[in-house]
Amino acid sequence: MSAIFVTGAGTDVGKTFVACRLIAELRRRGHTVAAFKPLASGFDPAQPETSDPGALLTALGESVSPAALDRIAPFRYRAALAPDMAAEAEGKRVDFDTVVAFSRRAATTADTVVIEGVGGVMSPIAERYTVLDWIVALGVPTLLITGTYLGAQTHALTALAALQRRSVAVHAVVASETAGSTVGLSDSARSLARFVAPVPVVTIPRLLPAAPHAAFAALADLFCRAATHVR
Ligand SMILES: Nc1ncnc2c1ncn2[C@@H]1O[C@H](COP(=O)(O)OP(=O)(O)OP(=O)(O)O)[C@@H](O)[C@H]1O
Ligand SMILES: [Mg+2]
Repeated sequence: MSAIFVTGAGTDVGKTFVACRLIAELRRRGHTVAAFKPLASGFDPAQPETSDPGALLTALGESVSPAALDRIAPFRYRAALAPDMAAEAEGKRVDFDTVVAFSRRAATTADTVVIEGVGGVMSPIAERYTVLDWIVALGVPTLLITGTYLGAQTHALTALAALQRRSVAVHAVVASETAGSTVGLSDSARSLARFVAPVPVVTIPRLLPAAPHAAFAALADLFCRAATHVR
């Protein structure tokens, strides 16, 4: 039984994109995969297919039904804000312990479990808790996704430092090319690699939705090699 938490240096950097493609690669290899997006903000109930949980369900080969959404993403909020603020906008609050308990159970539901976080490593999720606190409470290793926009390096290195300060295992830093980036993907990767070694850097160019790429096989290899049991 192994799980991985897909986190980010920030929002909109490619967490869902990478998670879906990793799921597809693991399934192709014959793994039984489950995926979760426990906290989802910016969720439009009228368009569940285009949401993060919808994308994860599609990658799992499952239909985007209300029951499936409840099962993989029970804490959904409409506002495109950090979850604590999005919940507050609906007169609700995120209960950290409930999210952790759900995620712990989720992490043991299949041989291979992919959990997508929300926002970046230090995004607030509840009154006094961040995504980092969630990861630490869960005790699963991470993939740290970053973009290649100007400024992404400081975001990635800050996020990595925060994870490492709390002894969180990071399987890889994944640089997913930002659309229209003025910084080259290979330049980004070379620079990042100097600072994050021995953590590997995996680069992903802008891809069409189903285009194959060796990076996902590399990520699946890392996942399978370093698969860690949930505490
Ligand atoms: N390497 C890539 N090639 C092509 N499109 C990409 C790539 N990386 C990310 N994208 C696209 O960029 C957009 C943002 O990516 P994605 O939704 O995966 O980010 P995210 O980190 O999950 O965002 P959020 O914080 O909202 O969960 C999406 O439209 C996604 O398909
Ligand atoms: Mg996402």
